[in-house]
Amino acid sequence: MSKIGTRKRLMAPDITAKKGVETIVSLTAYHAHTAAIADKYCDFLLVGDSLGMVMHGFETTVPVTIDLMIMHGRAVVRGARRALVVIDMPFGSYEENPPVAFRNCAFVMKETDCGAVKLEGGRRMAKTIAYLVERGIPVMAHIGLTPQSINVIGGFKPQGRDKAEWALIEEDAAAVTDAGAFAVVLEAIPEPLAARITRNIAIPTIGIGASKACDGQILVMEDMLGLSPKVPKFVKTFGCVGEAIELAIKEYSQEVRAGTFPEMAHTYATFDVEQVVDEPVGAPQSSGDNVGLGGVTKKTKISSN
Ligand code: KIV
Repeated sequence: MSKIGTRKRLMAPDITAKKGVETIVSLTAYHAHTAAIADKYCDFLLVGDSLGMVMHGFETTVPVTIDLMIMHGRAVVRGARRALVVIDMPFGSYEENPPVAFRNCAFVMKETDCGAVKLEGGRRMAKTIAYLVERGIPVMAHIGLTPQSINVIGGFKPQGRDKAEWALIEEDAAAVTDAGAFAVVLEAIPEPLAARITRNIAIPTIGIGASKACDGQILVMEDMLGLSPKVPKFVKTFGCVGEAIELAIKEYSQEVRAGTFPEMAHTYATFDVEQVVDEPVGAPQSSGDNVGLGGVTKKTKISSN
């Protein structure tokens, strides 16, 4: 098969192969410029459905649509050159049955050129994951806290607080592994459980609030940058982008009001290009004619200083 271009992007099997070899680094990304920056440091970028909350102000991820995922997915694929781009399938787009899931996942992959999709659920999604993988769609699974089920769970609550729940979460991890997922996100579960799962399955575990026992980590980019107004306990903020934005906007507003911006450095004092205008040279052809439309004109050069 011939190939055009030299771009080398990581693919789903490259992520799987990192288990036990190197720690996997990832972040969410929703737009091209931040994706281009994160691409230098991350193995994969997740266009997470958290974009509904982070970018669009929804209270949960439930209202997110396929169209929104495609719009942000395209931007991230354009921004990133090396990292695998994984796109979250939104609530309602894959749970019904495997053929519906295939149709929607294939649509997202075709429309965005992403390298994999992610969907939430363990045992209950195993059949669907197997169906997708058999048909050429790499799937990242997501277990523990699954935010799309918030209305059943009753809030963004850590899972596996009670040791009695651990066996089921471990069964979820085994089921998605057996189904062919290339990696699994573990969200908001205690360290000993994350360690057991990571030890016992063959695919990488990507932790978010699941401790350093995991094979890799992911955070929502705006949370770790210090842009999100409120973040969960498991987030460390590595930047203060929110403060930097506010300071910059405050200074801009003060300068505009004080008349100190724009200065001459930001002003076009003169245009070198000469403009050509139609200048009337004769009377209109009839009383109703407009000069320049029906009248006689000549081309005159003026320079606008
Ligand atoms: O949507 C998202 O941002 C996610 C991460 C929390 C893993 O699924």
